[in-house]
Amino acid sequence: MVTATAPGKIILFGEHAVVYGRPAIASPLSQIRATAQIEAAQTPGVRLLAPDLDIEKTLGTALADGDAFGAAVQQVQAATKITDLPPMTITVSSQIPIASGLGSGAAITAAVIRALATFLGFADLATPAWVSELTYEVEKIYHGTPSGIDNTVVTYEKPVYFVRQQPQNRIETFAVKRPLHLLVGDTGISSSTKLSVGDVRRQWQADPATFEALFDQCAHIAESARTAIENGDLSLIGALMNQNHLVLDKMTVSSPELDQLVAAAQQAGALGAKLSGGGRGGNMIALVTVETETAVRQALLSAGAKHVLGSIIHA
Ligand code: PMV
Repeated sequence: MVTATAPGKIILFGEHAVVYGRPAIASPLSQIRATAQIEAAQTPGVRLLAPDLDIEKTLGTALADGDAFGAAVQQVQAATKITDLPPMTITVSSQIPIASGLGSGAAITAAVIRALATFLGFADLATPAWVSELTYEVEKIYHGTPSGIDNTVVTYEKPVYFVRQQPQNRIETFAVKRPLHLLVGDTGISSSTKLSVGDVRRQWQADPATFEALFDQCAHIAESARTAIENGDLSLIGALMNQNHLVLDKMTVSSPELDQLVAAAQQAGALGAKLSGGGRGGNMIALVTVETETAVRQALLSAGAKHVLGSIIHA
């Protein structure tokens, strides 16, 4: 039996604008993970079991629209040139809530791709860059126009500075001078990234000048944030998170629930707070210190957060 896992992720700065070539910063959320297990089977075919997603099926050769699992298997087949797969059962489980801005789709896909490559005897091929590239192809099914940041951060599993560009994305790791203590607060409202990304695109097409200016503001915030993280300037990082939230709100991707959690965290002493990921629901993040963590966690729960997860970002 072969097992592979991939973590969730949070976007610290620059979501949405990253789709339009602006820089963004993201970090893995290593304590919540997606897992894929593959076992050889007796009956022919590739059996897929994903109890959390209520999926139990045998993958056919013709892919149904939006079949991300089938697409993941096909990507590995094409890359390894294996046309006839041996009988197997792929079991997928995930601790990452779906449609919540934590990169569950990318993590599940990356885990399946890495497990399948290993199962077929291509473990050496499955470098982070290779798994990331294949995951990106599958991400297009989930997102329509993904920037590539999700597949990058869940496969490299390091904080990354990311710019979508041709011919090759810019992917850089950077120093984190002082660890960032984050709380991740879940609105409990599921939200499709594909829809929020599509909505931003429609608004950008209708009013390119306004949206280009908003994306530029996000870019400036993300650049300043990278320097602040490298210098360990926690209060500046927090202030930049607050600014980024306001710009995302102008892009219409916040929601009353996200605004409420962000305000609660700020009032309880967080250095900064913002929504994270696609928005309109899903999760927000707050930068705290050891001193303020308990009060901010409590404030988030009182303001309606369904779960609050702690995460420390190191270099
Ligand atoms: O909602 P998530 O976790 O899939 O994050 C999406 C991030 C966006 O910038 C909104 C989209 C993208 O492809 O980068």
